[in-house]
Amino acid sequence: MSLCAITRALPGTAVERLGRVHEVRLWPGEMPPSSDELVALAHDADALIALVTDTVDAAVFDACPRLRAVANYAVGFDNIAVAEAAARGIAVGNTPDVLTDATADLAFALLAAAARQIAQADRYVREGRWRTWSPQLFLGKPLKGARLGIVGPGRIGRGVADRAEGYGMDVTVFDQGDPAGTFERLLAESDFVSLHCPLTPETRHIIDEGTLALMKPDAILVNTARGGLVDLVAVAAALGEGRLGGAALDVTDPEPLPLDHPILTAPHLTLAPHIGSATRQAREAMADLAVDNILAALAGCAMPHPVAVA
Ligand code: GLV
Repeated sequence: MSLCAITRALPGTAVERLGRVHEVRLWPGEMPPSSDELVALAHDADALIALVTDTVDAAVFDACPRLRAVANYAVGFDNIAVAEAAARGIAVGNTPDVLTDATADLAFALLAAAARQIAQADRYVREGRWRTWSPQLFLGKPLKGARLGIVGPGRIGRGVADRAEGYGMDVTVFDQGDPAGTFERLLAESDFVSLHCPLTPETRHIIDEGTLALMKPDAILVNTARGGLVDLVAVAAALGEGRLGGAALDVTDPEPLPLDHPILTAPHLTLAPHIGSATRQAREAMADLAVDNILAALAGCAMPHPVAVA
């Protein structure tokens, strides 16, 4: 029997399944463990199920010398030092596929909400500011015939493309490996830009003051991938100065946003608290995949869902 540390209670029955075979040590808090608490939790563990809120880096590996497997409860794995893990023979896995539709649904919902200012309209009604039906109240952007630029040709990006095509949008997909100038052209031509690429040193702040300047002044930016892809201060300034039509963000850097962050007072902003994969079905399936990864690794087998080491 091995020991698996888990940094938060997970939905569904997957952890019970793991507990029938191995000892499970569950972090009891609602808030994530601090780095010291993470090490205290996992110092003698053979395996770890981590969340996007956990930084699993060389310091954690140094302090947890028995670790053989880390399963990230997410498809993105920028919170895990995967090259460090590989160098130490620690297997790392993630939870692809099962959250694709949930995340693509949320991305498209945010896109449509931003296009029609639904969050703003909701506040307007609740605040008692609605006085009458008006020909010019909350005029939004049409989706049919609009161009959507998708940054990242992976499963979720393609899922958003399918949804957009169903709405009659013209979709262009950008891949990091496309010829020079393709990204800039996509930004310049798109009415909506939705980010679906992993966060890497190359993609950090892929949307910044310079790339925002290429976008149409009425374009809408959607981010359901990772907050670090976007320079939020630049987005706040662009929204405030009318150089960007709107932004809909499920992810931000940092998370959560401090209440004095400039983005929170920017106009035409729709926010969500990193809930892309938050359907019960997706979250339970993610727990199953994470446990499958751990069970395989602890049995000396390859993880069924390993991450690719760059
Ligand atoms: C969530 O952010 C994920 O990467 O699955």
